[in-house]
Amino acid sequence: MTRPIAVVGAGAIGVAFAIVFARAGSQVALWDPQRDRLPRAMDDVRERLEMLDSFHLLEESAETVLSRISTHAELSEAVVEAELVQECAPEDAAAKLELFDRLAGLTEDHVILASSSSALTPGRYAHECVARARILGAHPANPPYLLPLIELIPGTHTDSLIVERASEIYRRAGLSPVLVPVEIEGFIMNRLQGAVLREAYCLVRDGVASVEDIDTVMRTSLGPRWSFMGPFETVDLNTQGGITEHARRMGPAYLRMGEFRGMREEWTPDLVAEVNRQRRNILPLSQWLQRVHWRDEQLMRLNALKRERLGPKADE
Ligand SMILES: NC(=O)c1ccc[n+]([C@@H]2O[C@H](COP(=O)([O-])OP(=O)(O)OC[C@H]3O[C@@H](n4cnc5c(N)ncnc54)[C@H](O)[C@@H]3O)[C@@H](O)[C@H]2O)c1
Repeated sequence: MTRPIAVVGAGAIGVAFAIVFARAGSQVALWDPQRDRLPRAMDDVRERLEMLDSFHLLEESAETVLSRISTHAELSEAVVEAELVQECAPEDAAAKLELFDRLAGLTEDHVILASSSSALTPGRYAHECVARARILGAHPANPPYLLPLIELIPGTHTDSLIVERASEIYRRAGLSPVLVPVEIEGFIMNRLQGAVLREAYCLVRDGVASVEDIDTVMRTSLGPRWSFMGPFETVDLNTQGGITEHARRMGPAYLRMGEFRGMREEWTPDLVAEVNRQRRNILPLSQWLQRVHWRDEQLMRLNALKRERLGPKADE
């Protein structure tokens, strides 16, 4: 029998993590310093579990999953048995630092202390803490019970065994861990989102597109593609010859677009060669055409599903 997971902070993300772990079969102990938050959190959990059930996204009844979650008036009580503590307190470095100091004193040496922070790197809340070797960032997409990414950000003092164990626990809970080996603001997901948003704001500011135009472009082109493959796979499949050929044809135009925004980030030959090497390890060019057919099939499935669920005007 695995040890429980403690979720500390019962706001939007705390509630969502409680669902993730309980749905995967773990006992979950939930704590929040605002006592009146706990009954509301349980109501939120119940409501979302019932929604998930109505879409056939639960393996068990909502009641069974809910019964694995307990609420606790004392932090010490919530974390006493835990294998991993998922910190979900507000995005405030000083408050998180204080909380991790408390958690360090309340938990044994093997307990993993993971922060959900969206933007703070472990250096901001862990370096001074006596338990820093077992603290890491574990940033979810919101809500993690529907979007299974978890970015793992070790600090410079985090023990590599802790990272491995955390990775295994999240995997068991149905999440897809991606290691971010450098303490970089925004990690990976929000840096990618930031690149899109930066350009979107510029296009609105410069009168090139309205807000609605931008959302329409994304919703009807890049969004559907990116729902089943990433930007590298997208361009690899868009050009016969793959990444290398795409970079040869399109690299200069993308460089000019960047320069127009004051950024000179060249796709150098070495960089393109590295991206191509990694792509070719995933997909040899001999399988390229087959994968292009696969892409089209995925888009057809997606369009058919939208039409079935939302009707013929789903994309308007
Ligand atoms: N909301 C998102 O989209 C999102 C996505 C990924 C990560 N995060 C991160 O998750 C964390 C929580 O965000 P949220 O959106 O759930 O916030 P929230 O405001 O919804 O919830 C925060 C909860 O923490 C409680 N709290 C206050 N002080 C606390 C303390 N000292 N210790 C423990 N709990 C405390 C509050 O009572 C509240 O219930 C933040 O670090 C945020 O950056 C949020």
